[in-house]
Amino acid sequence: MNQHLKSNSIAGRDVAAHLHSQTNPTRFEETGPLIIARGEGIRIFDDAGKPYIDAMAGLWCASLGFNNERLAAAATKQYAELGFYHTFFNRTHAPAVDLAEKLLELTGMAGGKAYFATSGSEANETMVKLAWIYHTVRGKPTKRKVIARDRAFHGSTIAAASMCGLTFMHREFGLPIAGFVHTLCPDPYRNMLPDESEEQFSQRLADELEKLILREGPDTIAAFIAEPINAGGGIVVPPKDYFARIQAVLEKYDILCLDDEIVCGFARTGNWFGKETVGMQPDMMSLAKGLSSAYFPISAVVMAPKIYETVKQFNERGGSFGHGFTNSGHPVGVAVALEAIKIYEDMDAVEHVRKLGARLRGHFDDISGRFPIVGQVRGAGLMLGIEIVADRETRAPFAPALQAGPAFDQIAYENGLICRCMGDTLGFSPPLIVTESDVDEIAGLCEKSLRGLMIHLLPN
Ligand SMILES: Cc1ncc(COP(=O)(O)O)c(C=O)c1O
Repeated sequence: MNQHLKSNSIAGRDVAAHLHSQTNPTRFEETGPLIIARGEGIRIFDDAGKPYIDAMAGLWCASLGFNNERLAAAATKQYAELGFYHTFFNRTHAPAVDLAEKLLELTGMAGGKAYFATSGSEANETMVKLAWIYHTVRGKPTKRKVIARDRAFHGSTIAAASMCGLTFMHREFGLPIAGFVHTLCPDPYRNMLPDESEEQFSQRLADELEKLILREGPDTIAAFIAEPINAGGGIVVPPKDYFARIQAVLEKYDILCLDDEIVCGFARTGNWFGKETVGMQPDMMSLAKGLSSAYFPISAVVMAPKIYETVKQFNERGGSFGHGFTNSGHPVGVAVALEAIKIYEDMDAVEHVRKLGARLRGHFDDISGRFPIVGQVRGAGLMLGIEIVADRETRAPFAPALQAGPAFDQIAYENGLICRCMGDTLGFSPPLIVTESDVDEIAGLCEKSLRGLMIHLLPN
């Protein structure tokens, strides 16, 4: 047995007692966990004291790094004043009101409402339920289905996982459940035809969406959900006019547009929200992760006034909105989120991300010139992907058995860099607080790891 898995060690006890998300159980029992002992800025340290730059901000979420003192102080202050209260039965508290107002202002949903939950999955499922109310009140109760996209990630609860377009989220559970269907992923690198322009590609995607709607029956479709830039499916940036064309189809068939901003929100793509980066005009948005820099499990839905109006109308004879989570609007969560937003404003996160994102992108473009296995560099702001390929000319992928992406992750990890492959796309989404020298270091470690990968893949 691996020495560090002795039964009285943290690793051994972890293996004995703890089931991990997105982890192979058999391999885990052999290797044990990576124990994270502490964080400092963009770095984490394992229990042996080895530092790693976490160039994924954990799970695209710790935008302010791993030991932000202002966030810790905001939490401590709020715990001392009111450590818990709920927001059911018309209860509220000042920080929840402040955050609701702030989110409506930032997202441009003036006159609408903010609703709080505790995870991204819950926020996405909340949007689905709101879409159902919306259509029911307008006399269209059969509009229930949700269209998501291939390669999408929207969460792990049953409906959220059903909205995912990734087989690893479905295969153990018999998902998706009925009523959740998928349309094409707008990936120009993989799905655009050789003789197609970007505009033609967007139009084909819109036509395919329309065909799906007609096949399923327009009277059965409630909503379409998309991230502005698909994160977990491989940092897929849609063509420029994609959302304009998609939204024209949605409007034609009275289908709501749900914007999952859980990764893209809060400056990640170089605008406050990803919708600005890609020209999306949603009816509702889900927020989480960067909302509190992941220092507290909090999420939110912001909705246009027309959505709220239907919730009100549905209940005009005295019913209550029959939805809610114990920790919806938790006082510490909203206090931490308010402080995170203040920090983003103080550091001018949008401008900072544009500048540092351009610098990292510049490094990756240079690297691409030196490594024939780099097929494409893509992304926006500080959300960048490098797709590696066996043949740059033909875009032929590596044989799946080579596990090229995971091999890169392992080599990078050994070099002290945490990134995350999605298939053979190497993902980078560092904390937004990165400095110029951090970005240079990430690029240097990436290059070193690509060299290691070349040796691993082509040893001779
Ligand atoms: C785009 C997107 N939506 C939703 C979720 C689900 O969020 P949570 O894990 O907080 O439920 C995630 C999580 O990674 C995500 O990346």
